[in-house]
Amino acid sequence: MPHPPSPNSLLNPEKIELIDLAESLLKIRSFADLGAVWRVEGGYTFQALEKHDFDRAVLVDSNVTATVETKAIRIPRLKLVRGNFGDPEVARKVGPVDAIFLFDVLLHQVAPDWDQILDLYAPNTNVFIIYNQQWIGSPDTVRLLDLGEDEYFNNVPHERDHGPYSDIFTRLDDIHPVHQRPWRDIHHIWQWGITDYDLITKLRSIGFRLHFMRNYGPFGPLRNFENHAFIFAR
Ligand SMILES: C[S@@+](CC[C@H](N)C(=O)[O-])C[C@H]1O[C@@H](n2cnc3c(N)ncnc32)[C@H](O)[C@@H]1O
Repeated sequence: MPHPPSPNSLLNPEKIELIDLAESLLKIRSFADLGAVWRVEGGYTFQALEKHDFDRAVLVDSNVTATVETKAIRIPRLKLVRGNFGDPEVARKVGPVDAIFLFDVLLHQVAPDWDQILDLYAPNTNVFIIYNQQWIGSPDTVRLLDLGEDEYFNNVPHERDHGPYSDIFTRLDDIHPVHQRPWRDIHHIWQWGITDYDLITKLRSIGFRLHFMRNYGPFGPLRNFENHAFIFAR
């Protein structure tokens, strides 16, 4: 039987480059990687700690695996936080860090929404390093579920029968057993199409300037999303 790919082989060099660039440009000494686990098993945190001489790091996820836990225990400068990073108590546990990594997570955030997540972490950081599938399908940011079932599935990289997506439109208002909130508000599904304009405007409004931006082009076959990378700093 073929082996599954190792988590390190799934790391995206574009995100690694982004961390390297922020480290050298802005001299960051500490970071928190919010939503670090799925598929990559905290890989961006672990390789950043190996490569750079960071003083402190925090890895946060609602679904921490045994692999991540075992690795994290061996690294005294790394703090592992389990929970929803939209919860102010989780933000308090993260505490002050030079930089916040948001890699492929901003588009999943509802209640608090993506922009409120930025508000929550802004007081405790000077840098946001963001890699996100950005919306190019219309001039305004959209809540993807509002597009209706057919357009929703035309715009997300998941099939109707896949994991949390199966029958989602029939139970949007049911309470999810684990997250104790309506299915429409869980972070395991694609939630937002965020435009560059809205992201940059939001960060500017809370005191962060765009230092770096790169368009890495289409996200798979999706015509309305592109991978965009950003570094914002005070
Ligand atoms: C799409 S994966 C991205 C993983 C990694 N950052 C990357 O770039 O490959 C999203 C991860 O973030 C976690 N996540 C998303 N929203 C979260 C939230 N509000 N609180 C805690 N974990 C969250 C998920 O559990 C999952 O592990």
